[in-house]
Amino acid sequence: MSKIVYLNNKYLKYKDAKVHIEDRGLQFSDSVYEVVPFYNKKLIEFDFHIKRLKYSLNELKININIEKNKYKKIFNKIIFLNKISSGIVYLQITRGVQPRDHAYKKNLKPNIIIYTIDRKLNLPNNNFKGEKAITYQDLRWKRRDIKSVSLLGNVIAKNEAIKKKCYEAILVENGKITEATASNVWIIKNKKLKTHPTNSDILKGITRESIKKIIKLNNLKLSEKSFTLKELYGADEVFITSSGNFVTPIIKIDKKIINKGKIGIITLQLAKIYTKINTDA
Ligand code: PDD
Repeated sequence: MSKIVYLNNKYLKYKDAKVHIEDRGLQFSDSVYEVVPFYNKKLIEFDFHIKRLKYSLNELKININIEKNKYKKIFNKIIFLNKISSGIVYLQITRGVQPRDHAYKKNLKPNIIIYTIDRKLNLPNNNFKGEKAITYQDLRWKRRDIKSVSLLGNVIAKNEAIKKKCYEAILVENGKITEATASNVWIIKNKKLKTHPTNSDILKGITRESIKKIIKLNNLKLSEKSFTLKELYGADEVFITSSGNFVTPIIKIDKKIINKGKIGIITLQLAKIYTKINTDA
């Protein structure tokens, strides 16, 4: 955890950084966030995260002007001040503070929170391993394209996964896979990749977009179509992607073992290329 955090133009000690009890992020999850990874102190895909942040803010009509370069400086400074070489920067912007009312007032002053979390990133090295997942009902709201902090459905599903000693919960809606609680989901069958199309049912992952480019450059086949639980269980390979965990192979889902419990060849190849491009590791 950051020792120093950024809150509304100030760099403060972790214990001194506080927001008001009537912050709308706290009361209504009226708030958006981003998670930006960094490796060797270098931010990964920063510009795309800022672009998505602007999209989320705009969709919720949160009144704030985001200057990319200003935020880049803050991100780099918070990494420097905390002396961390790899991990994630967490940014959250809430609509602001007002007496509790579902209707928001115009021209509230957003609260801006930025801090670092020291974390080893999931690199395809000797410790690279396949993870287990469960499937779980997708209980979330209907605007998952907005990276809002309305994450209770994700929290419930993730904790069911933890209870069953699994790493992730893959979410199912009307018999189709949407994504996972904090990652996008991919399957591979007969060397063809499949992932849910980007619409309001899923978050348009930055890692997802990066993997899409790698797939294209390597002449692999991808179809952005939703797929069923049966296709998930019957896949040759399954993996998930996110900024926090890059490419993570999934080798067991519920009771179904995938690829004989081993990391798939294409998954490993994609993980290696992604890591090389973004970290040079
Ligand atoms: N989660 N889908 C959901 C629901 C997510 O929460 C995330 C990221 C992703 C992957 O998006 P990206 O590749 O841009 O990280 C997909 C972040 C890491 C989190 O909430 O911690």
